[in-house]
Amino acid sequence: MSLDIVILAAGQGTRMRSALPKVLHPVAGKSMLGHVIDTARQLKPQGIHVVIGHGAELVRERLAADDLNFVLQSEQLGTGHAVAQALPMLSAERVLILYGDVPLIEVETLQRLLLKVSEQQLGLLTVNLNDPTGYGRIVRDDNGVVQAIVEHKDASLEQRLISEGNTGILAVPGTRLGDWLGRLSNSNVQGEYYLTDVIAMAVADGLVVATEQATDEMEVLGANDRIQLSQLERHYQYRAARRLMVQGVTLIDPARFDLRGEVTVGRDVSIDINVILEGQVVIEDGVQIGPNCVIKNSILRQGAIIKANSHLEGAEVGEGADCGPFARLRPGSLLGARAHVGNFVELKNATLGEGAKAGHLSYLGDAEIGARTNIGAGTITCNYDGANKFKTVLGEDVFIGSNSALVAPVTLGDCATTGAGSVITGDVPANTLAVGRAKQRNIEGWKRPTKK
Ligand code: UD1
Ligand code: CA
Repeated sequence: MSLDIVILAAGQGTRMRSALPKVLHPVAGKSMLGHVIDTARQLKPQGIHVVIGHGAELVRERLAADDLNFVLQSEQLGTGHAVAQALPMLSAERVLILYGDVPLIEVETLQRLLLKVSEQQLGLLTVNLNDPTGYGRIVRDDNGVVQAIVEHKDASLEQRLISEGNTGILAVPGTRLGDWLGRLSNSNVQGEYYLTDVIAMAVADGLVVATEQATDEMEVLGANDRIQLSQLERHYQYRAARRLMVQGVTLIDPARFDLRGEVTVGRDVSIDINVILEGQVVIEDGVQIGPNCVIKNSILRQGAIIKANSHLEGAEVGEGADCGPFARLRPGSLLGARAHVGNFVELKNATLGEGAKAGHLSYLGDAEIGARTNIGAGTITCNYDGANKFKTVLGEDVFIGSNSALVAPVTLGDCATTGAGSVITGDVPANTLAVGRAKQRNIEGWKRPTKK
């Protein structure tokens, strides 16, 4: 059966106290609405219709994609009114309603819900709550058959004792929706067109309301303020951490791990505390990541070791290679197998060949460094003249003395050596020592100044 999805995202979110529209606030580095859209996509609907209102332009700009249809609700007159704005675009046999501020809804739950929908039946996602205050209540008859949803503010004291709450998420037969929405009225406590009133209409029309339960409260929690936003964040991270542990990753403390993107992991990976993974990260078997590392859009090959406080972005660390503590690998950094990068070394657009080493305090930018080459402490590639960038090429088994400045463009052949403190401005042939520094003078009998 064909499917249209409507995502309600027009509300203001006053309690966020923010210039940013509520649905753009991030959970795990991605906007809440972005999460909902990605989940919606997995259901392969014929259309995804996003109802926007507050901050509409910004929302549209940030999330624009070919498969999304944005619908403007210029005045927020209620959830029923919001869905009605999308109505002219809907043509599928089933319509699923989601919320831009309910980001943790899982695709499996929605699939279960959608199985309930037919010409004669709709599917309603409910949740049992310890404290249902604020939620619409699911009203059932003596046989447990759903009759209606009553909003908290409209509910009698007796109805408020009902612990089964409306998540807001429902799936209905598309052919009926227009008729029901057309009959909504706003004569209720809030003066809004409630989407929830379609439940009683469906019952009156002889349809069955089949309910499905959300896994837990967090799955269907909407963020109304930054406290709830942080709860969603922690719950997301708790789920992510569990998933990784199930896949064979040791997390020293799952409460101090953050995933802001996607990661694929091998076996026997160990991740110490306060590690943040961002974007697309690939971690192969046996990798060890020390505490306080940020790793973004990077690939860590088998057995690589990332020591404490390292920052990697757009980098690849080869098999058995290691970096840190306090290493910074910027985009285009490529460490070959068993290469070594030590503390306070920054790489940008630089390749270290197999077994090459840069142990301490260096900047290596726009560089190609051959296998087994050793970069002494304090070495700098001078790759920028203020206008243009130039390349440094070092062959294999090169030895760069400490505190060398390699003024690019410059090329050093295999087995070349530079003396410590050299400023290397010209190419050095293979097997040659280059010394580019003032010759030492010793002044015999020199007297230190003394106080008068
Ligand atoms: C709604 C449900 C309630 C349910 C609760 C779950 C209704 C009438 N009530 O109540 O039964 O228990 O969600 O959280 O549906 N929105 C628009 N345009 C509007 C109004 C709302 O896009 O004109 C969007 C909001 O941005 C929000 C969502 O719809 O994402 C829910 O609206 P809200 O006003 O928060 O509904 P609740 O009172 O929480
Ligand atoms: Ca709400």
